[in-house]
Amino acid sequence: MTRRTPFLAANWKLHLGPAESARLASDIRVRTADLRDVTIAIFPTALSITAVVDALRGSSIGVGPQEIEAAPIGAWTGANSATLCRAAGCEFALVGHSERRQHYGETSQRCNQRLFAAFAAGLVPIYCVGETLGERRAGRVEQVVGDQLSAGLDRLESDQIASLTLAYEPVWAIGTGETATPEQAQQVHAFIRSWLAARIGPTLAGQVRIQYGGSVKPSNAAEILSQPDVDGALVGGASLDAANFAAIAMQAISP
Ligand code: PGA
Repeated sequence: MTRRTPFLAANWKLHLGPAESARLASDIRVRTADLRDVTIAIFPTALSITAVVDALRGSSIGVGPQEIEAAPIGAWTGANSATLCRAAGCEFALVGHSERRQHYGETSQRCNQRLFAAFAAGLVPIYCVGETLGERRAGRVEQVVGDQLSAGLDRLESDQIASLTLAYEPVWAIGTGETATPEQAQQVHAFIRSWLAARIGPTLAGQVRIQYGGSVKPSNAAEILSQPDVDGALVGGASLDAANFAAIAMQAISP
């Protein structure tokens, strides 16, 4: 079986200005400095990206925007571009987070354009998928996630798909304190990997890191992260506390 390096991401959403972000990033840097074989990335607000890049200079922690526009530059008032984020020192980009889908009308088709933009700029995207509670209750999890994958990853080259990260984030578990059980998470992660195997072949599918997201905290991380197809976590609320985020990262390397 392919060994996949765990990938822990901190999604700070609309929290913390530049000075507070730099402080929290430095604290996370210190607390995770001894961890080997783990990828860590921080997604601050766009306003704080530069401060966080500066605070993390010389460390192995990556930085990225929480969303990017498909266009690299131009008349797109209020948008972030992958090209400009790369110029600001970013290495990663979140694409298609459920809060973007919910509040900003983000669609998987538009995410597809954003994924192309991320690759064109040299950013590694994390593409988020996941069902609502209603869709889960209606037994539509695989259909919904499958559709998000088909539309979002449309026309991407196999090696591009192999190099991106996916985040399975059941919408009902985000910011609610509700977490998918480890079995529920594993079931969807295994479905995603089999979908990938059909699209790009089992060998490349075995390389793709699939994060779980939704109320991950130190007390539930070990169980979720020990599932065979869970390769890390996209952490929201708990990542605003350096000790909590470092504790989750610790469990990712020795689940
Ligand atoms: P949460 O957020 O950990 O606060 O549930 C996760 C996310 O939205 O990425």
